[in-house]
Amino acid sequence: MEKLFTAGPVSLDEEVMKALSRPVMSHRGSEFRAILKDVEDKLCEAYGTEYGMVDVLMGSGTLAVDAMVYSSVNRGDRVLVINHGEFGQRFKQSLERRCAVINELKADEGNAVDAEHVLAEIDKEDYDALAMVYTETSMGLAYRDAERIGRRAKEKGIRVLVDAASAMFGEDIKLDGGYFDAVSTCSQKCAAAPPGISFVGLSEEACRFVYGVGEKPRYLDLAIYADSMRKGYDVPQTPAVNLVYALDKALDIMLDTGMEKWIEKHRQLTGKLYAELPKLGYRILVANEAYRSNSVAAFRVPEGLSSDQVIERVGKEGYVLSQGMGSLKSSVVRIGTMGTINMDDVDRFIGILKDMNGWQGKE
Ligand SMILES: Cc1ncc(COP(=O)(O)O)c(C=O)c1O
Repeated sequence: MEKLFTAGPVSLDEEVMKALSRPVMSHRGSEFRAILKDVEDKLCEAYGTEYGMVDVLMGSGTLAVDAMVYSSVNRGDRVLVINHGEFGQRFKQSLERRCAVINELKADEGNAVDAEHVLAEIDKEDYDALAMVYTETSMGLAYRDAERIGRRAKEKGIRVLVDAASAMFGEDIKLDGGYFDAVSTCSQKCAAAPPGISFVGLSEEACRFVYGVGEKPRYLDLAIYADSMRKGYDVPQTPAVNLVYALDKALDIMLDTGMEKWIEKHRQLTGKLYAELPKLGYRILVANEAYRSNSVAAFRVPEGLSSDQVIERVGKEGYVLSQGMGSLKSSVVRIGTMGTINMDDVDRFIGILKDMNGWQGKE
């Protein structure tokens, strides 16, 4: 069976696969409600929150981003967007559809937006919200200034929205830190569960303010999900019951490992890639190592090769990689170290690259 070295979805533990095939049960029964409560408790632990909550949505990470936007931002609100690539762009588009008034800060490809510049902008202007992607999955860039920026924004009463799809549970992010209000992620990344479920962690304040935002589609209304959890896990729509079983198991595996160890595992796996691939002619897209993601590493392929060629060759050995996105499609490969990927896989993968024709001499 092939193994996914992609930026998500990820290969699953056998126990998680087994959980998927348990019989379907009624989502209105007490047994399923108890499972949902367990899932909520585990997610709160993993999100590092005692005072907030985590809304569980049936849909992918894009749904969670839209739900954050529609439940936190009113039409006409002024929003500062920090944009590092494809997913920053999509976040901005979601806000545009919400008719927010946007000011965008960008950096050159592979660089982080200067935090001092962002702080000055926050101090200078009146914004209602700030939106940023924690790990820009298209670049492998983890914006580790997000907490510092989020804290300053919150001090000014600005709502801080974070798309942490590939960052949450792979970076040390805590919802109760006083930096963020809404943090979204999805099941198929560092949680190592099947795709199809997403989450929005809400700070203590966000648990209140989502009730005051109007004109939002029902499926995107985080207040409805929060209410349903408070009212005994009586969910508003039919959930993907079997995905919830699998998620429950995946969260057990993560929490039994311990969050620190779990994050460290991702850091070590990408760390090995960052150390070894440049020796083979692959250039790390993010020049400054302080901003290199723990969970998704992006590399420019050596001259004379295309990402398709690398992906095809590695695929013959049973590993699946992700291509670059947008204009980087043919020149970049992205490698996720989530799910069941371990150090043996990383070593084997590096060995395959070494064996590829045409550039062995570059070592
Ligand atoms: C940062 C980020 N945001 C949003 C998404 C969209 O998630 P999904 O494909 O689950 O809708 C992704 C997916 O890779 C992502 O990496």
